[in-house]
Amino acid sequence: MAERVPPPGLVPRPAAASSSVIRDALALARRPGVLSFAGGMPASELLDVEGLRAAYDHVLSTEPVAALQYSLTDGDPRLRELIAGRLTGRGLDTDPAGLVVTTGAQQALMLLATVLLRPGDTVAVEEPTYLAALQCFAYTGARVVSVPADDGGIDVDALAHVVARDRPRLVYLVPDFQNPTGRTLALERRRAVARLAETRGFWIAEDDPYGELRFRGEHLPWVAAQTGARDRTVLLGSLSKILAPGLRLGWMSAPPALLRAVVLAKQAMDLHTSSVDQAAAAHYLANHDIDARLVGGRALYRERCDAMLGELSSVLPPGSTWSRPDGGMFLWVRLPEGFDSAALLPKAVDHGVSYVPGAPFFAGPPDASTLRLSFAGHGREETVEGMRRLGKALS
Ligand SMILES: Cc1ncc(COP(=O)(O)O)c(C=O)c1O
Repeated sequence: MAERVPPPGLVPRPAAASSSVIRDALALARRPGVLSFAGGMPASELLDVEGLRAAYDHVLSTEPVAALQYSLTDGDPRLRELIAGRLTGRGLDTDPAGLVVTTGAQQALMLLATVLLRPGDTVAVEEPTYLAALQCFAYTGARVVSVPADDGGIDVDALAHVVARDRPRLVYLVPDFQNPTGRTLALERRRAVARLAETRGFWIAEDDPYGELRFRGEHLPWVAAQTGARDRTVLLGSLSKILAPGLRLGWMSAPPALLRAVVLAKQAMDLHTSSVDQAAAAHYLANHDIDARLVGGRALYRERCDAMLGELSSVLPPGSTWSRPDGGMFLWVRLPEGFDSAALLPKAVDHGVSYVPGAPFFAGPPDASTLRLSFAGHGREETVEGMRRLGKALS
């Protein structure tokens, strides 16, 4: 009998290592009795189960064939029109033809990486940044260069230096209530990044799933809306944090040539995003006052954020610092020097609390003392109890 030959092995991908840290953290967080501040889930109380059930009922009874058939790669025209209307209402004049509906903003990120990046190309990111964006960039074989950032977002002088030195094709930013830090990119820096893109020629990915969750301060205009930025900025958005993440509905608004390439890549990837989900979401958005619901959601998140902020100074070890977000779902803690948040996580879980260690969010050398807390999921009482447990675990 001929010898059995194994099939070829898998392609090694650098994306795998850090994702396992998060997977482990989330698995630990699911232990019974653990108060988890780890995941990036919207508050369950904000999911409009009845409204969405009615929307699915409606589309399945009034247009069952269209809702269940294959459809257009660039998305349901009604949903595109509603999203374009929301973007225009928020200060960026948008034509429905200028956007494509994606399977979450996450797919938009992977599509963007697919059409823009070749192995060895450089992407510049703020430090730290959204882990799953780093994973997308890693899949393409791009080189990720991190740029220092502070409470006002990316350091524009440092970015200018990186741009001159490394000539990135893409600069990836989460300007509002960033994941993981909760910080917001200051207005003058938005202008400066736009000017830099205009004069040095790079693409900007402006990833904005949290922009409608501002609960303090003034709304800031998108980088895409700054002078000179429009033809080189790709704006990503999502229904995940304002309606329901399980819908897996996001979008990308981009200049025409890039969008055409994205639509071809999406065709190869999944033909189109679920027809029935798009139809139900379009029906929901057309028939519900989502802005009125967002007023309630923002108030809830402010209350929860403040409840957490109110506890931190009395529970964290002296010398700890933390961010004070104006919106979104996350805050970022830096423990004193010598603390290792990943090593401490099992102990925290033994005390009945969990978080996400900060290290995987760094493209450059990680700061092991950092961690991310989501304030979105728990009311005041549980938050106070969770922070008490965290304090005990760290003491
Ligand atoms: C910054 C950022 N971008 C993109 C995403 C992905 O969002 P979606 O659920 O729309 O795929 C997330 C999700 O947490 C995020 O935090």
